[in-house]
Amino acid sequence: MRLYRALFRQARALIEERLDYYSQFNPSPLSMQQFTDFGENATISESFLFLKKELPVRLANIMKEFHLLPENLLHMPSVGAVRDLYRRSFMDLLEFDTGNTPNNTATLEKFTDALVKIRNRHSDVVMTMAQGVMELKDAHSINANTEANIQYFLDRFYMNRISIRMLINQHTILFGDSINTQNHIGCIDPHCDVVRVIEDAYANARFLCDQYYLASPELILTHHNADKNPVSVVYVPSHLYHMLFELFKNAMRAVVEHHGPASDTFPPVHVLLVMGQEDLTIKLSDQGGGIRRSLMDLLFNYMYSTAPQPAVSGLDTPPLAGYGYGLPLSRLYARYFHGDLQVTSYDGYGTDATIYLKALSSEANELLPVYNKTCQRQYSTPVQTHDWSSQVHSAMFIRPFSTTSRNKHEQKSS
Ligand SMILES: Nc1ncnc2c1ncn2[C@@H]1O[C@H](COP(=O)(O)OP(=O)(O)O)[C@@H](O)[C@H]1O
Ligand SMILES: [Mg+2]
Repeated sequence: MRLYRALFRQARALIEERLDYYSQFNPSPLSMQQFTDFGENATISESFLFLKKELPVRLANIMKEFHLLPENLLHMPSVGAVRDLYRRSFMDLLEFDTGNTPNNTATLEKFTDALVKIRNRHSDVVMTMAQGVMELKDAHSINANTEANIQYFLDRFYMNRISIRMLINQHTILFGDSINTQNHIGCIDPHCDVVRVIEDAYANARFLCDQYYLASPELILTHHNADKNPVSVVYVPSHLYHMLFELFKNAMRAVVEHHGPASDTFPPVHVLLVMGQEDLTIKLSDQGGGIRRSLMDLLFNYMYSTAPQPAVSGLDTPPLAGYGYGLPLSRLYARYFHGDLQVTSYDGYGTDATIYLKALSSEANELLPVYNKTCQRQYSTPVQTHDWSSQVHSAMFIRPFSTTSRNKHEQKSS
């Protein structure tokens, strides 16, 4: 037993030392154009040479951030499980980045197999990490600082994961056994037909909505500036689909709930698609009653949901809503290639959700978290106290001299 513990400590020390080494390097963001050029021209060994360093660098950059998380979150079983997966995959990759690994066919095959194994090993990480945060919420009360740190970390952690999966998918699809039947470059479609993805996402969200409510709103799609028919962009169709599917589910749920499932007719969900010089914009507008302005700050918080929490197992179909991951994860997909996702709302009427993508593949660069001084400071900086009175609306804008506010003097917090 003592020997086992000593070996375990030794292995951990080695991992920490390697993490220090690889986290000194910044990740190298690629543009969509670099991905496609690389995909069309590079050989498997060039891809191998790039990835055997880049993957450990990206892993190390996020694994170092685990150290900055609140101690009691790190003690949650699911968070520990995720950390172990990351350590294991990091060690699997290091095998290939040693001076004496021959760059021959056997190594290349072994590398591709290792990537497939890593991808499968990490397939449930989003849910496991979410579980870890729920374990913390059940076990401890969480203050504003902890909450802000977790939100900051999860955005970076999930973004890092999206980027690592992108690299792994490109390598395994381009150089693995799978046969490319569509003219895709890895998982990128150089002519991604945006209307088709919109219609697909709508149809599948509608299927879920019909199952839940036995009703669903229609879709009305309008183009602007779309002289090229069909409107296309160099993009990862599965990422675009993910965002649209989440937005359609949200819009449909809001519309049906707002008007009552028994209603005869529902106002349709309008989608406006615009191809601009720099941006491709997709705006979904629903008349689902909107979101109160006082709740808008919570929208992109992980686990903020107004739907009942879905059962974890025993479902034939995935739930329509309830995990609270739809908006924050979709915004990460949009931001990953320097796009964005914004929500504006008109309380009592409806909501607009807008996806922005870079129209040009040379401008669509990966956005990656970097482990550095700025990020370390972020975890240790306490949430700022306000330098405006906290009840701004009553004190400043609504009848500032009314009797209710006249005699009220707030005591300054530190
Ligand atoms: N189009 C919309 N209209 C009204 N409320 C919305 C809309 N989109 C999102 N919301 C609100 O934001 C919450 C979070 O959305 P999301 O992140 O997709 O998680 P979930 O759908 O699992 O609740 C929803 O529960 C809902 O209250
Ligand atoms: Mg949702």
